[in-house]
Amino acid sequence: MSPPARILVKEETFDPSYVPPRLVHRDAELGLLSRRFREGLSKGLPFHCLVTGGVGSGKTALVRRLGADLERAGRLHDLPVRVPYINCWRRASDRTVMLDLLRSVKVSLPDRGYSLSEMLDVFEQGIRRAPQHLVILLDEAAALVKQETKLVYLLSRSREVELGSISLVLVASEDLFPYLDPPSRSSFGVTHRLSLAPYDRAALTDILEERARLALRPGSVEREILDQIARVAAPTGDARFAIEILAGAAHAAEDDGAESILAEHVRRAKGSLLPTMSEAHLEGLSVNQLGVLLALARSLKRRGAAVPSQKLRAAHAALVEELGAPPMSRTTFWRTLKELERDGLVSLDPGATGESSQVGMDELPASLLTTLLEERTGGPRARKA
Ligand SMILES: Nc1ncnc2c1ncn2[C@@H]1O[C@H](COP(=O)(O)OP(=O)(O)OP(=O)(O)O)[C@@H](O)[C@H]1O
Ligand SMILES: [Mg+2]
Repeated sequence: MSPPARILVKEETFDPSYVPPRLVHRDAELGLLSRRFREGLSKGLPFHCLVTGGVGSGKTALVRRLGADLERAGRLHDLPVRVPYINCWRRASDRTVMLDLLRSVKVSLPDRGYSLSEMLDVFEQGIRRAPQHLVILLDEAAALVKQETKLVYLLSRSREVELGSISLVLVASEDLFPYLDPPSRSSFGVTHRLSLAPYDRAALTDILEERARLALRPGSVEREILDQIARVAAPTGDARFAIEILAGAAHAAEDDGAESILAEHVRRAKGSLLPTMSEAHLEGLSVNQLGVLLALARSLKRRGAAVPSQKLRAAHAALVEELGAPPMSRTTFWRTLKELERDGLVSLDPGATGESSQVGMDELPASLLTTLLEERTGGPRARKA
């Protein structure tokens, strides 16, 4: 028998530096920025902008996509557009950022012995030799701006119209306005600020679907599984976290020799990315809670990422009978489920009208959980099912 086909067919698209060709759910934001820059630059005027948003909300992806699109679109006001990208996190001083900028206009200076204004002169010479619109992307700009940068002010004020223009895009997870000096603030007024809302579960599912299409063999992951991952990442709205889980789950599936990614692989990937339920936490659970978790763990091993609550209740009743314990009332069963949800151990999704809720769990691989819970609820006797 031949080994199963690979799942990860284009793994490089999971690289943190990879910029996807299409940004799902950010069309409006990308369109707005793109219009503003084109309008400005086609009149020979700079446009400055501050982009903020939470971790993994797509700030870097958005501005890099914008940059690539602007560079590709060709000349504006008869000049080419160049979009250097600088991550300020590791270059948190005006001088080190300036050295990068010099390289972007193809001049180099030794790292020592030049003042900022001398560097700016050389920078202008570089632009003079090759007139262009520069749109400078300063990512992780908080590191720079909080050090009372002069560079933001100097660059946002330069107006070398005949040589082209210099625009600034500051990217940060927090509002930088309070840290800017008053003249720079006026350059980043209300219409020059864009704040990205966190992704919700549906948006994360779409983002995952798009990335799966790029990175994975067609048919190797169901949308239901992507939704399971999105549910894990939804509380933070962090697309990077969601994509990391997808990559981890794809690896786990390949390690298993599976044809496709299963709920179990997602749980395993998530388990290795997050500190999960500790054994101490497990010991704090009541026997009722343990019973419901065990029934859920078993049901999930056989089913997909979530199981209808009716089915779970039936599986739980069977387990209780097997253990020779007294049956649990419907009310107690629900209360227990709600407690587990409140503790963040299970997720409860209302089903469609007339259908029962869907119960999911992402905390630990079902296999490990089954073992741990069986130890507490009756050992090997509970292992038959
Ligand atoms: N709308 C989207 N469509 C497709 N992929 C996206 C989208 N938004 C974000 N991503 C992907 O999610 C990951 C995180 O996005 P990105 O790095 O842009 O977030 P960020 O806001 O810059 O986060 P941080 O604050 O940590 O720098 C990247 O792999 C990116 O390609
Ligand atoms: Mg970023």
